[in-house]
Amino acid sequence: MSEHNDTIDALSNESRTFAPPATFAAAAHINDGALHAEAEADLEAFWARQARELITWQQPWGSVLEWDLPYARWFVGGKLNVAENCLDRHVAAGFGSKVAIHWEGEPGDTRTITYADLLDEVQRFANVLRSLGVAKGDRVNIYLPMIPEAAVAMLACARIGAAHSVVFGGFSAQSLIDRINDAEAKVLITADGGYRRGEVFPLKPAADEALAHTPTIDHVVVVRRGGNDVAMTKGRDHWYHELMAEADPVCAPEAMDAEDLLFLLYTSGTTGKPKGIMHTTGGYLTHVAYTHRNVFDLHRDRDVYWCTADVGWITGHSYIVYGPLANGATQVMYEGVPNYPGNDRFWEIVAKYGVTIFYTAPTAIRTFMKWGADEPAKHDLSSLRLLGTVGEPINPEAWMWYHHNIGGGRCPIVDTWWQTETGGIMISPLPGLTVTKPGSATFALPGVNIEVVDDNAQPVEHGGGYLTLTRPWPGMLRGIWGDPERFVDTYWSRFQGRYFAGDGARLDDDGYLWLLGRVDDVMNVSGHRISTTEVESALVSHPAVAEAAVVGANDATTGQAIFAYVTLRGGQDVDVATLRDHVATEIGAIAKPKAIFFTPDLPKTRSGKIMRRLLRDVAEGRNLGDTTTLADASVVDELQRRAAETPSED
Ligand code: PRX
Repeated sequence: MSEHNDTIDALSNESRTFAPPATFAAAAHINDGALHAEAEADLEAFWARQARELITWQQPWGSVLEWDLPYARWFVGGKLNVAENCLDRHVAAGFGSKVAIHWEGEPGDTRTITYADLLDEVQRFANVLRSLGVAKGDRVNIYLPMIPEAAVAMLACARIGAAHSVVFGGFSAQSLIDRINDAEAKVLITADGGYRRGEVFPLKPAADEALAHTPTIDHVVVVRRGGNDVAMTKGRDHWYHELMAEADPVCAPEAMDAEDLLFLLYTSGTTGKPKGIMHTTGGYLTHVAYTHRNVFDLHRDRDVYWCTADVGWITGHSYIVYGPLANGATQVMYEGVPNYPGNDRFWEIVAKYGVTIFYTAPTAIRTFMKWGADEPAKHDLSSLRLLGTVGEPINPEAWMWYHHNIGGGRCPIVDTWWQTETGGIMISPLPGLTVTKPGSATFALPGVNIEVVDDNAQPVEHGGGYLTLTRPWPGMLRGIWGDPERFVDTYWSRFQGRYFAGDGARLDDDGYLWLLGRVDDVMNVSGHRISTTEVESALVSHPAVAEAAVVGANDATTGQAIFAYVTLRGGQDVDVATLRDHVATEIGAIAKPKAIFFTPDLPKTRSGKIMRRLLRDVAEGRNLGDTTTLADASVVDELQRRAAETPSED
């Protein structure tokens, strides 16, 4: 854990505390310790009450939990439909005309979608999917920009019992191929293009490239958004609006088993191959509805909620689509970047819709800090009452900036720790109850059992260690698609009987948790997980590259930045820009290294293992410690010289 020492030192100096404002606490769903006490007294009864009160079941469950480590089954025998929970029951309860989504396109066009509108569109699209041969148990791939059709497509899958696999629109054709083929998806839903920074970014051409290598895809549905010219293959490709115009408007929700697969979402691990994380129906929905209601203190009659994530990530699944819609929330969904047409676009949107709850990533906050406090000051942000962060540790300075300049000093901040694998939030303040400290995610939520342990799996009461979960929780992953062994190896083998999250954490004198980032070979760039091995594989797939080593180095804005060290094949030459573009083609623009250093050799131990820690030290400009285990110490001198000379890309 030595690489975390700097962070630990910085965080241990933080002593400011912020109690929930009295008026906030008085009106909050949770403002006393009763929920904690209930969960501690009887975990299963606690979650059963959440499932009963927050979710509508077509058939009650028999047992709450069957736990055969590492396999959990929640609400066994229960039947429900996720789309029915997110839509039909709200309409039936008289909320059909309530706005579900205030959608804001990047160019400034808008759509106002009520719960009744969304139910209508989802039913029609569910029938479209059926007409294209999608049946219960099939997989459907979704590759869309941030447009309402993304939520429609996900809910339509849930309605008929097909599992979706959403691929972030910024991923490359190659990434799409890998994910479609691993899931053996039958149908792909994409768009001609979407808007980004004032321009149309084409998606269908990337999908076409992928489709040449995805034998399981029978049909492609294309949403018209960008208006860019696209090729349509007859018999295979269909326009969304044409199919929808013909679709039957009624589609009864399928009765799904609580443990039926709801979706796959691929995330990076420590190998080159992304993992298809499996989430099921009843437990997941219970977990996201519970956390969305209590962590964000959602009052659906008066809140306007906005989560700035993309639906392509778990945050978008759990806290744009399923949590908020299950709770009948009114939310904002925005298509584009925060700096188009100006650096104040987010604040303009907050003021325009009267956003009350705002959830974003620390990397975005640090970017806003760079743009300056004048940008939010141009707008009336007085509607805001609660702020949230997710995706990476937030440094106290960014927390304080957020608190003052966005929250006007009056809004509690919930720093929420969780993962693609956990399905929903696990560690977070409860905004009407918890005294916060800038930079600490504070405590496990009621119903979640966390322990920090040392190398020998012994619980740590105070100080640093590894973050583990000791009891099952309803939103937990049920496996890795097609790879049960990897599921056991990755999460359940490091510490006997515990789920290992891959994160370091520290407990302070008051028992507050401070998350310290990954302790494995996974980088966190702008809150997105990217594996070092995946980027290395992308680099060595270029014909000029013999060998590559990739590390995540601290970066003031993006949390970590990707640094690559590359050895070229004899007689080959290639420039940095070409290699960066090559990585973008292989994985996606988010995986482009910030800097690439060419080196005749990589520093290796005598047994041939690349010394990543040392490369991280070089990247972060630190003095190198002991290099005596190196096979060839002169490599390092050369690297340091080159690192000092080479400017990195922004
Ligand atoms: O390292 C932790 C970091 O993000 C990882 C999970 O990444 P992903 O599955 O992509 O999900 C991101 C959105 C939930 C974790 O292992 N992480 C997430 N939230 C926090 C965090 N690190 C510190 N503080 C957080 N609040």
